[in-house]
Amino acid sequence: MSGIPHDHYEPSSRGEKWLYRRLPIVGLLYDTLMIPTPKNLNWMWIWGVVLVFCLVLQIVTGIVLAMHYTPHVDMAFASVEHIMRNVNGGHMMRYIHQNGAMLFFAAVYLHMFRSMYYGSYKTPREVTWIIGILIYLLMMATAFMGYVLPWGQMSFWGATVITGLFGAIPGIGEGLQMWILGGPAVDNAALNRFFSLHYLLPFIILGLVIVHIWAFHTTGNNNPTGVEVRRTSKQEAEKDTLPFWPYFVIKDLFALVVVILVFWLIVGFMPNYLGHPENYMEADPLVTPAHIVPEWYFLPFYAILRAFTSDVPIVIFANWISFGLINATFFGVLAMFGSIFVWALMPWLDTSSVRSARYRPWFRVFFWIFIVNFVVLTWVGAMPAEGIYTTIALLGTTYWFAYFLVILPLLGIFETPQTPPETIEEDFAAHVKASDKSEDGKGPKPEPVPAE
Ligand code: HEM
Repeated sequence: MSGIPHDHYEPSSRGEKWLYRRLPIVGLLYDTLMIPTPKNLNWMWIWGVVLVFCLVLQIVTGIVLAMHYTPHVDMAFASVEHIMRNVNGGHMMRYIHQNGAMLFFAAVYLHMFRSMYYGSYKTPREVTWIIGILIYLLMMATAFMGYVLPWGQMSFWGATVITGLFGAIPGIGEGLQMWILGGPAVDNAALNRFFSLHYLLPFIILGLVIVHIWAFHTTGNNNPTGVEVRRTSKQEAEKDTLPFWPYFVIKDLFALVVVILVFWLIVGFMPNYLGHPENYMEADPLVTPAHIVPEWYFLPFYAILRAFTSDVPIVIFANWISFGLINATFFGVLAMFGSIFVWALMPWLDTSSVRSARYRPWFRVFFWIFIVNFVVLTWVGAMPAEGIYTTIALLGTTYWFAYFLVILPLLGIFETPQTPPETIEEDFAAHVKASDKSEDGKGPKPEPVPAE
């Protein structure tokens, strides 16, 4: 696929030419900012920029927090209290970092669901999607390790439960768990390495974000119709696109200001609303909390992990066929990692020739059930793993796997999609006409000039 034809940077002054021959960095910036962007992008295309903002915010606040934090089991909890009480602006830094992680995940889920709805994962954007999944996995690892650092009750017990999952792997499990923790239990060695990795991973995420942006700049952005920008000539391409600067920069900045306003209200007025009170108690290896619940953004996967109890038929079958190697815990671990693996495979599991859900009536129905199911799994993940909750978690997990492995492949064969517009220009014109109240559909008439 050749890129969208557009004007490239031409150095004009002597100084620009001098630099261009040695380091074409201004050219790179120019081409990035002036990239032709489909002119019909809607408000769901703002989350990428919100995500970039979140990453920068987390790195900046994290670096400041690390200046005052002590990664030692005897001092970690107290050092966080010290940040909250004594360090100038410390409580604000911590609350921004804590809630910033939540904004980051809220934005990433909206960004992923948007990509699913409009088929942005489909060819030729598979690499953008896969890099996105890698970023998402690293975000999860970073958030998990960050949550251990304040060394509260949930930090300690959450880390114990999650690292314990590695122990469930037959044969190598116990050794692997010990290797990860640097000892037989969650203790000082684990806290130290989690701190080190929590500091490192955001920079790896940053590197991957640059590759992610490079990938979708190579293919061009998708858009709500899923129809590609015409590339036969620069004139044709210009009918479907607008340069990123200034049009989308202004739109994205406006959206970012609104998001920051809401975020600021949460940080200022209800910073602990989504947190867990138990984490304001110092870690005690001798007292297990009644319910060990991770942060909300992990809950759907926590629900999948705990859905498979030893009386579920598929677990009994797996146990029998593997001569007892696969027990309920290990099955849950496989299901949890498997649920993200099948998500990653979406570009190859969706067999439809049409990208956007706008023109796929059945896909839309199953997509919205997927979203409702995601919310249900989030809710059930926070409930105790017993009785009706396990049944709901099992049903939700079944839908999750069925959606990717059965529904998506079959829909491409059995669904009759509607016909998308020929061009982005056509879609844009139809939209402008629909919102235009003038009689001839050509925009408002000029006000008649009053007679003198
Ligand atoms: C730190 C995390 C991330 C950042 C900073 C980021 C950034 C961006 C930006 C700036 C865009 C273009 C604008 C937009 O579509 O909103 C984009 C597009 C895209 N992202 Fe991400 N992203 C992140 C994570 C993810 C994840 C986790 C996925 C999915 C697994 C993903 C999948 C995509 C896809 C498929 C596109 C192409 C959309 C299109 O062509 O219109 N991204 N990303």
